[in-house]
Amino acid sequence: MTDAAPAAVSRPVLATVASLRDQVAGWRRAGRSVALVPTMGALHDGHLSLVRLAAARCDRVVVSIFVNPTQFGPTEDFARYPRPFAADCAAVASAGGHAVYAPPVEEMYPAGMATTVTVGGVSEGLCGATRPGHFQGVATVVSKLLLQALPDIAVFGEKDYQQLQVIRRLVRDLDVPVEIVGGPTVREADGLALSSRNRYLAPDERAVAPRLHAELCGVAAALAEGTPAAAACTEAVAALHAAGFARVDYVEVRAADGLAPITGTPDGPARVLGAAVLGQTRLIDSVPV
Ligand code: PAF
Repeated sequence: MTDAAPAAVSRPVLATVASLRDQVAGWRRAGRSVALVPTMGALHDGHLSLVRLAAARCDRVVVSIFVNPTQFGPTEDFARYPRPFAADCAAVASAGGHAVYAPPVEEMYPAGMATTVTVGGVSEGLCGATRPGHFQGVATVVSKLLLQALPDIAVFGEKDYQQLQVIRRLVRDLDVPVEIVGGPTVREADGLALSSRNRYLAPDERAVAPRLHAELCGVAAALAEGTPAAAACTEAVAALHAAGFARVDYVEVRAADGLAPITGTPDGPARVLGAAVLGQTRLIDSVPV
């Protein structure tokens, strides 16, 4: 069932839980497998690579577009977050998506809603330290999206690596019958990870922004040469400040699965994660070790 369909868009745009469930039930009756790609819109090639990954794995792909108020802090960019909805719907269709799910806030959070989902451990530290409540907002909305769509798989970007770990943990802990698939980070030619927030960068900030990725790669290279993680991260933080980042929230090495802190030399798969602010724009990135 379709709630609304902008004229230029050839894919159903679903605005209610009931219409999403009708659509998915129809696909199920026809024997189709179903993938969900949760997004907040302002879609770029990174998101579209996730849609293509989903389409390669499943017969039908639904892309949710919902700027989730509960994952933004009071001083963050919820009000000005970009919402180019018609362009997003066209992009979903061109990348092989079959439906857009775009509920209004009142549909996702009906009056009286009193339940939140908190994931311990992996939500703490890193972005959890600088964005209190952020991962509770993410975990709550992702739990709802998964229960609303009941997909076979759900695809998330590795760019938000801590978020991916939080979602893997919640799905394991709550026995949600869905496979969580991580998609690789898509980058500009100079290494900057694609992000909906890159559009906030002024030209001089855009020129400096790739340094975050470069410094994280530098930490990974230093670890490979035997430098302890703590020393390599301290050096990277100093280099980011020197390059013009106004604030460096963290550069840390963590275990790739479970995000346990590593200050010495990793003895298994690890990840270098960083977050830093340029002007008004907070950038995050991570690289494998
Ligand atoms: O990564 C995002 O865009 C959001 O955090 C998500 C997973 C769609 C939840 O709102």
